[in-house]
Amino acid sequence: MKICIVGAGYVGLVSAAVLAHWGHEIVCVDKDEAKINALLGGELPLYEEGLQELVEQNMKKERLVFTTDFTQALVNREVVILAVGTPSSEDGHPNLSYLWSALRTLKLQIKQDVTLIIKSTVPVGTCALISQFLNKDSNYDVEVISAPEFLRQGSAVYDFQYPDRLVIGYKTEKARVLIENLFQPLNCTKVFTDWDSSEMIKYASNAFLAMKISYINTIANLCDAVGGNIKDVAYSVGLDRRIGSAFLNSGVGFGGSCLPKDTRALVALGEANGVNVSILRDVLVVNYEQRLRIVNQLKESLGDLRGKNIAILGLAFKANTDDVREAPSITIISIINKLGGQVRVYDPIVNMENLQRNLSFYPATDHYETFDGADAAIILTDWEEFRSLDLERIRQLMNTPLIIDGRGIFEEKKLENQGFLIPQKISPEQDLISA
Ligand code: UDX
Repeated sequence: MKICIVGAGYVGLVSAAVLAHWGHEIVCVDKDEAKINALLGGELPLYEEGLQELVEQNMKKERLVFTTDFTQALVNREVVILAVGTPSSEDGHPNLSYLWSALRTLKLQIKQDVTLIIKSTVPVGTCALISQFLNKDSNYDVEVISAPEFLRQGSAVYDFQYPDRLVIGYKTEKARVLIENLFQPLNCTKVFTDWDSSEMIKYASNAFLAMKISYINTIANLCDAVGGNIKDVAYSVGLDRRIGSAFLNSGVGFGGSCLPKDTRALVALGEANGVNVSILRDVLVVNYEQRLRIVNQLKESLGDLRGKNIAILGLAFKANTDDVREAPSITIISIINKLGGQVRVYDPIVNMENLQRNLSFYPATDHYETFDGADAAIILTDWEEFRSLDLERIRQLMNTPLIIDGRGIFEEKKLENQGFLIPQKISPEQDLISA
């Protein structure tokens, strides 16, 4: 099929690369000139395993083209996929300004009937509004389909091709047939439903994952207070097939561009509609307090942080991505900065220069440089390479052998046996909560 993808962000770029790989002719359009120029020069605006190769191969085969010219991008396109960002607004509701700006341009530029697939995460009712807007006083028929994307950063190329399910909100048989054809290579359950349900499924899924993490973090905090090994507890709870073992890793909590934003969006939706969503509000509170617990453990172990050297291992919100959106590291470094601590940071791929505009830290070039002379080290990303660190060497390098492991990388017993100090497990203080 001849497809135009609007938005060269995470979802747009991965969709473009994989659909081109499946043999479709893709034009990917984005108004960000710097991003498109970089892509045309073979440079990806984000790190994602396997994506660079896929983009290069398909650009060479001329099945994948990038442009900033919307009019040109729409010529002869029977399908348009909308994959622009819908970040949080101040009030928690998603900001749909990029989406509507793209739709206004689309309405002006279309010259034929098209099927419009919405991959952006949008509130319930949006597809209905989009359909009304595009078909009103128009010479062309626009068939709107909701197709929320569930790919995880770090394994996005794989997830696009091997999803657990494909969710489609649709109106007509024509739309259903087109989706069956387009996603024919997918060997997964295909759920065909209405627009509203499809839109809600995306939010409900992400908020549920967030809830699972905050739940296990609450149990971990209880274990710290009264006893119990959280790893054994989580493992055993997860063996119950009704619960499942995924997303039961306790630690510093969730970040990223989706879980926090989508949980906030459901809270805002509940508040706007008089529905009690306190369960979801608490998910966000617990998640924020996990970050404060880490700072408090640091304060409890080191006392005054002024002049203390703190090593931070990992900036990305999770492993295998260079994304720091809503990452725990940002909150924690900024509090340590305020408390007068000196921060030294290592992350294998995150671009540190951008972050140094708002945060104060020294960017180390390797793990061991980060630990050198440190009064404490905090692990904030579950990078695989951290698991094979030489603990003996680290203990010798550190000023005080204190590791606060926010990602459960090391067994606490192992650290203790190697001569490391175990941080006090205490709740965040009131003054940190209000920070
Ligand atoms: C998420 C959803 O998983 C995906 O389906 C959706 O399309 C986009 O949002 P992503 O943001 O890439 O994907 O990350 P995810 O793997 O869900 O992890 C989110 C955060 O939760 C990370 O910070 C991760 O470290 C944290 N996490 C995850 C935990 O703290 N504990 C866990 O057990 C799992």
